[in-house]
Amino acid sequence: MSVLRNQIVPWIKVLACQALVLAIVLLLSGSLTPGSLTPGTLPVLLGQGAAAAGLGLLLRMPRIWLLVQFLLPVAVVYGDAVPAWAYLAAFVLCALVYWNSASEQVPLYLTNRRTWQALADLVAASQAGRVVDLGSGMGGVVTFLARAHPAVEVSGLETAPLVVAASKLRVAFSRLPNARIVYRSLWDADLGTYDVVYCFLSPVPMARLFEKSRREMRPGTLFVSNSFTVPGRAADRILDVDDARHTQLHIYTL
Ligand SMILES: C[S@@+](CC[C@H](N)C(=O)[O-])C[C@H]1O[C@@H](n2cnc3c(N)ncnc32)[C@H](O)[C@@H]1O
Repeated sequence: MSVLRNQIVPWIKVLACQALVLAIVLLLSGSLTPGSLTPGTLPVLLGQGAAAAGLGLLLRMPRIWLLVQFLLPVAVVYGDAVPAWAYLAAFVLCALVYWNSASEQVPLYLTNRRTWQALADLVAASQAGRVVDLGSGMGGVVTFLARAHPAVEVSGLETAPLVVAASKLRVAFSRLPNARIVYRSLWDADLGTYDVVYCFLSPVPMARLFEKSRREMRPGTLFVSNSFTVPGRAADRILDVDDARHTQLHIYTL
């Protein structure tokens, strides 16, 4: 059911918006002065895409689908103009960034600034000495916490190749001696060496990851999950972050 909801329903909305906009363009092109609106030309296709994206916005479609709405008319008409290698390059680029989407069912999306601050406050209150972000993405959590707490060692573990490279560069440029990004699967980490373990993953790994945390983490240390709960175990505390997406940090004390 969730596949249907997440994959098919958005495409139905896309096609409905595109069909509506195309119908309006065809109607207008028939009624306006000849030549003032020619269907299939680049400006008209871009206008169609923008209008369809606007409709998508009204339907509260996620941003990625608005991009699909915008590009679809041009892609359909000018698809042949794009060389085959460009599709391959785009595919490889996506694979290197969204490396864990298929295998771990964890895509890349990032913790926002207000949540960074909430985490920094939590780290201060817990008097942690070592913190890890499991699946550290672009390294935003790691650099923010390391800057906020120079005495705390902050690590990020990541396996998406391009994301590891970019976040290692970010840490190198930020010149924070207490921050580091490690190319390592979170399943291979020894969680017993950390006082606070943070993750922002997906519902899929939560049960297994919490089981690993229970086996490895020391009593009194904190397992903090952004948005995703551990099935069958109530959090000891839920921190509501004052942000637009109503982020909740689920805090489990080991
Ligand atoms: C939703 S993102 C969160 C990024 C970052 N923690 C943040 O909050 O900004 C999840 C990240 O976990 C990474 N990931 C997924 N499975 C992983 C694994 N087994 N080992 C290391 N990283 C993993 C993904 O590549 C992705 O970058």
